[in-house]
Amino acid sequence: MKGLILSGGRGTRLRPLTYTSAKQLVPVANKPVLFYGIEAIAEAGITDIGIVVGDTQAEIRAAVGDGSRWGVTVQYIEQDAPRGLAHAVKISRDYIGNEPFVMYLGDNLLNKGITQFVREFEAQKPAAQILLTRVPDPQMFGVAQLENGKVVRLVEKPKEPIGDLALVGVYMFGPDVFESVNRITPSVRNELEITDAIQDLIDRGLTVRPHIVEGWWKDTGKLEDMLEANRLILDTLERRIEGDVDAESRVEGKVVIEKGAVVERSIIRGPAIIGHGARIVHAYVGPFTSIGNEVEIKDTEVEHSIVLEGACLRDLANRVIDSLIGRNVRIWREPVKPSAYRFMLGDNSEVGIRW
Ligand code: DAU
Repeated sequence: MKGLILSGGRGTRLRPLTYTSAKQLVPVANKPVLFYGIEAIAEAGITDIGIVVGDTQAEIRAAVGDGSRWGVTVQYIEQDAPRGLAHAVKISRDYIGNEPFVMYLGDNLLNKGITQFVREFEAQKPAAQILLTRVPDPQMFGVAQLENGKVVRLVEKPKEPIGDLALVGVYMFGPDVFESVNRITPSVRNELEITDAIQDLIDRGLTVRPHIVEGWWKDTGKLEDMLEANRLILDTLERRIEGDVDAESRVEGKVVIEKGAVVERSIIRGPAIIGHGARIVHAYVGPFTSIGNEVEIKDTEVEHSIVLEGACLRDLANRVIDSLIGRNVRIWREPVKPSAYRFMLGDNSEVGIRW
């Protein structure tokens, strides 16, 4: 069995971060989302993983390398443009050969892994097996209709409600899917949809098994989803303090402080993680916060946020909450007149001032 991770595409909903970085590399609890997928596949005993890459391939290749860090062999499959999930399958034919494979969307996170799902597929050998979960906003996803425990219909982002069972971004296929991806035509959004390919398997009389996911699942495409994924992952961390914490600081609950981080005269209230080389001085880091490597937080309070590598927050009068702060961003306050806002923000940045 092989693994196929889809890590191409454009991350329009996470702009401006995704102007400079692949959306699959945005970190959750200081680890790129994509790495959780690689770990889940490796944990299921799959050692050959193909990663479909697009415009951001240089960055993804640099971050993942040859996969040896996870005991797997990674090969890269280039997609010329994001022409759809079924198109990604189509161009992976040579890599996959005639083996069954698990396809994992590189911006998805599942807390229970995929091992049980893989074993079930191996035992039952259907043409495809899909993961489903109930969601409050099915129009945002591919949706499946079941009858007598079998999948009978799939619709991508349905405008008319057909149920609330959304397709989670993990799929298992046997080689029959390659014929189906060749039979379908592009959708209204001009993509070859994997939902159409799976519908084609059903229409050909082949078996598509559903598997309802227990535990949580997150598609990390949007800010709110990133923050929620961050919250869920931080909650699973074990306390580990390897950085330097002075006697005037308090570290409460599930907190990870990496080696080389410095905490002075501050309160860190978990679940939270502080990356290596970070400096937290006379500050408050509240629950559900990930502070990246080499970040500086000085005379500032931050909570329920993700702060990426090299950023600096200094002397802010109000607490920073619900925020995703990009690499090397600097936010500071200084006592000079006239008092004013002074911004230099990239395209599609967002600033919210609550008063
Ligand atoms: O997250 C689950 C949903 O994922 C499913 O419910 C939908 O049925 C499925 O179509 C997909 O919807 P999205 O609109 O969220 O897919 P997105 O365009 O975000 O792409 C998912 C991942 O696949 C992402 O990491 C980028 C990558 N990708 C996407 C396309 C379209 C590629 O590598 N190549 C592509 O051509």
